[in-house]
Amino acid sequence: MEQITLKSPLDMHLHLRDGEVLKSVAKYTAKSFSGALVMPNLNPPILNVDSALAYKQRILEAMGEEKFNPMMSLYLTESLDRNELLKAKDNGICFLKLYPKGATTGSENGVSEILNPKILEILEIAQELDLILSIHGESNGFVLEREAEFHQVFIELAETFPRLKIIFEHLSDRRSIAVVEKYPNLYATLTLHHISMSLDDVIGGALNPHAFCKPILKTPKDRDALREVALNAHSKFSFGSDSAPHLQGSKENAKGAAGIFSAPILLPTLAMIFEAHDKMDNLERFVSLNAQRIYGIHASDKQVILVKKPMAIPHEIHGIVPLNAGGSLTWSFG
Ligand code: NCD
Ligand code: ZN
Repeated sequence: MEQITLKSPLDMHLHLRDGEVLKSVAKYTAKSFSGALVMPNLNPPILNVDSALAYKQRILEAMGEEKFNPMMSLYLTESLDRNELLKAKDNGICFLKLYPKGATTGSENGVSEILNPKILEILEIAQELDLILSIHGESNGFVLEREAEFHQVFIELAETFPRLKIIFEHLSDRRSIAVVEKYPNLYATLTLHHISMSLDDVIGGALNPHAFCKPILKTPKDRDALREVALNAHSKFSFGSDSAPHLQGSKENAKGAAGIFSAPILLPTLAMIFEAHDKMDNLERFVSLNAQRIYGIHASDKQVILVKKPMAIPHEIHGIVPLNAGGSLTWSFG
């Protein structure tokens, strides 16, 4: 049987939630990844080091026996200061996550005016301490232009803080690729859904709330350009799933929550895509080596084996509908 072994895969953008949902979804990530950058947009959000450390403990408990490295992030608000950032650093928390206010799920506490003196002061300290800044890069303009309208903020931040590593999260628009390439301190993550699906999958047929996320899926041209970047394991891009579970009710009722739950199918689906384009040799760079280099992560000895064997995708998992529910894959876990 054909099989591949991936050394120390990493998911550099993940929502694990908390409580019962955390307990339901943790094992899918634990089985596939040696570590993940965990997003802080809980309700209430992870605003300080103490709550990040307590959350980390709950994550480790949910992961059970699996060896797993949860890399914690702090939700960036104006209440952070030098002492808290120093404490973060001392406790191995290296990431700040910036949400523009109102841009996505759990962004109510986000920043309304990003280039304001208080935020710039916090970023100056972050640069000094070698923290990494992850950004949800969307304006509040027309939905298909939001990412492009945000480029100017990335450019100003990249120029103002040339020694701060800035991550342009979940690229969705092909025009963003050149921005990432141009600035030496800008990097990016790519999701499975943005490299494999387009707006047609959301609204081209019957409305599919399970493919609805922020940033919204865009055109087939955007998808294809982003997929090329992934297939070539472009050195400035790492894999970050943005797997974002919501209970079926909140996706399908009038609330229409944004977020795609992809954790159970990520690596087998990526294997299918890389195989179809004859780029299997680049998969490990995309899901592991690039992140290790960009973020300075020490690889663990975890190995994930994928085999060419059909895998059925469940219709639902503890009340959460996964991406491509009810479908099947040609690769699965060994
Ligand atoms: C994420 C969530 O549900 O937390 N939703 C999403 O559509 N991607 C938040 C985010 O990363 O934007
Ligand atoms: Zn996210």
